[in-house]
Amino acid sequence: MRVLVLGGSGFVGRHAAAALRARGHTVVIGTRQPRRALAKLPPDLRASLHNVELREIHFESLTTRYIWQPLLSDIDAVVNAAGILRERGGETYDRVNNMAPAALGEACARLGLRLVHVSALGLRPEARSRFLRAKLVAERRIMASGADYSIVRPGLLDGDGGYLALWLRKVAAWPVHPCPADARGRMAPLHVRDLGEALAVLCERGGEGRREVELGGSARRTMAEYLDALRGAQGGHRALHLPVPALLAKLAGRICDLLHLSPISLGCLELMRRDNLPKVNHLAALIGRAPTPVGVDLPAYASGVGVVGRIRFAARELLQ
Ligand SMILES: NC(=O)c1ccc[n+]([C@@H]2O[C@H](COP(=O)([O-])OP(=O)(O)OC[C@H]3O[C@@H](n4cnc5c(N)ncnc54)[C@H](OP(=O)(O)O)[C@@H]3O)[C@@H](O)[C@H]2O)c1
Repeated sequence: MRVLVLGGSGFVGRHAAAALRARGHTVVIGTRQPRRALAKLPPDLRASLHNVELREIHFESLTTRYIWQPLLSDIDAVVNAAGILRERGGETYDRVNNMAPAALGEACARLGLRLVHVSALGLRPEARSRFLRAKLVAERRIMASGADYSIVRPGLLDGDGGYLALWLRKVAAWPVHPCPADARGRMAPLHVRDLGEALAVLCERGGEGRREVELGGSARRTMAEYLDALRGAQGGHRALHLPVPALLAKLAGRICDLLHLSPISLGCLELMRRDNLPKVNHLAALIGRAPTPVGVDLPAYASGVGVVGRIRFAARELLQ
């Protein structure tokens, strides 16, 4: 098959592209910057994608099916792993995360192409974040497009090179872990390589029976537990937990949104408040094996241990 991977140089897309190539497909990567797309890849992925075709694509101007169609004329299937976490100029949530994928769905329907669209877990119509709402509207419009689609909703991703994954690994390495006090939702983080493989398999299979595909890793953790597990994977002892009052976290999220600082955003904070778990986890069935473990659990606090006990426990761990 000839597969166009939109956002194919990004964290998710590069793994989908590499997995598709490894399975014998011809890959075309859609990117805003064909000259620089491969240079930003880690060496192993750059090697496996070295002579791939690169096609210049700008989602903000691809908001009708008529503009998409000529770009898809030599393509059998499309993986859409393009998306933005922050708006910039004409690259708005509405255009990049909603209108362009919706128009892509219509173009795929018209041309009879398979469409595998990467969305996310935890989207709700009541969400306050425009980022989350735009992604949900795109899902609904793709469902109504008539295309042979699969909408893939992965949980939080770990792996080398992801912007958010890198940030979380950095925070995990700190001796103190600040975490919003109301971040009580559990999530099932998965490895980005597993997601890439699952996307490649989904391209090969029709969407019938696989319209909404939710994916996660094996462990269920809150954000604080996840930071501990990342720290465990780095060989560290337990860090001190610093619960940040919800209002203060919200203020920090708002400031980061305004200044485009860090991946912390009101949308992320909103997601952390509720469980973000796959209703049915399709990952093992798609990749034919157990998900790659993400993080390593550290010894738990004994139940009933109060704040002073936790500080003592953490101090003992830090001194070991
Ligand atoms: N990372 C996670 O933990 C996670 C979890 C769940 C779901 N997801 C979803 O997975 C998708 C991909 O996320 P990611 O982590 O791979 O993000 P990423 O590393 O930032 O990659 C996004 C890609 O989108 C492309 N892109 C951005 N704006 C574009 C535009 N205006 N026109 C064309 N292409 C554009 C970029 O391609 P170029 O720079 O090459 O132009 C980039 O490679 C998103 O929909 C995200 O919501 C991510």
